[in-house]
Amino acid sequence: MTEGNAAAGWFAVSYGRQPEGVWHAPGRVNLIGEHTDYNEGFVLPFALPRGVQAAASQRSDEVIELRSRQARTQPAILPLATLKPGSVTGWAAYPAGVAWAMREAGHPVAGATIAFDADLEQGAGLSSSAALECSTALALAGLNGLSVPLPELAALARRAENDFAGIPTGIMDQSASLLCQAGHALLLDCRSGQTSAVPFGLAAAHLLLVVIDTRVRRALSDGRYAARRRECEEAAHALGVPSLRYLTQSPQAGQLSPVLEHRARHVISENARVLQAVGLLRESQPGRIGPLLTASHTSLRDDFEISWPQADVAVEAALAGGALGARMTGGGFGGSVIALAETASIDSVRAAVAGAYAARGWEPPLFTDALPSAGAGRVR
Ligand code: GLA
Repeated sequence: MTEGNAAAGWFAVSYGRQPEGVWHAPGRVNLIGEHTDYNEGFVLPFALPRGVQAAASQRSDEVIELRSRQARTQPAILPLATLKPGSVTGWAAYPAGVAWAMREAGHPVAGATIAFDADLEQGAGLSSSAALECSTALALAGLNGLSVPLPELAALARRAENDFAGIPTGIMDQSASLLCQAGHALLLDCRSGQTSAVPFGLAAAHLLLVVIDTRVRRALSDGRYAARRRECEEAAHALGVPSLRYLTQSPQAGQLSPVLEHRARHVISENARVLQAVGLLRESQPGRIGPLLTASHTSLRDDFEISWPQADVAVEAALAGGALGARMTGGGFGGSVIALAETASIDSVRAAVAGAYAARGWEPPLFTDALPSAGAGRVR
């Protein structure tokens, strides 16, 4: 089936006509650089083939109508003029927030009907909300004939999440969804906003990167993400720097409370690991980033304290099964682990993780191979 046909079909079934266009925005895997984005640091995500499709048409009544094949709820029908932060709850807050943010920025966004279809699970740490926002942003720009630069669209999609839906995330996920290139990871310097595509060719190096959905679900809105962010800001403030990005050495003992010291140590060491990983990828040595991935996990588990038992067991078992490196990916407290392995040992990695879960009586993990894919765009 041609990409976008399923979303167009869903639109046609719902409205008895074809949409004017279909836009796709992918989810992402963050290869390394976790909880560094809102500290103005470095991140290195890549786009997945899976994501959210928005099938959309213009309408003339200054209303935005949103329905999702997965949500199975009544469509949200929202007059554009009534949109304000907090006015919409649930999944529709993300696309409605994008319409709001674009209008707030002065872009003439008129009414639209959008039917969403996704092949990306929610809560798996793969940025389904950013994919929803970015597919909306492209659809609204496309329908209204607006040529907004992609980094600006990413910032508006983030604003929707921060200010409209009220979740204080960084800029990584929206940037990944809009700016990634196939076969590459995206190095983003969250202080300067500079991006560059870093080759991440797995097949040529006989490697696979497997995403292990630990089946534990989390929500960034549950307060723990925001608490980490606050702690980082407190640490930076206490050390007299605008953000933890300005530090390259861990603070000396006694400069911060033990908790803040651990948080800062994670962010500082993680920024260094991102740059080391980029160096290895640029030297065409993708297999050698394995130990950096594992060190990132240890730091997220022990210093940042956002790991969860199913992630720790998956990482440990993947390594025991022969993985070159493994780590949790995303905001933490649930979602997915990634494991990098030589193609020849991938079966043994999967078997080790599945076996470790079975031994504990846990719901079996789900495995998918992740292929660094293209960023968002119009598909129909
Ligand atoms: C979530 C947020 C991102 C980032 C990661 C952690 O995915 O949306 O902005 O902070 O968590 O690295």
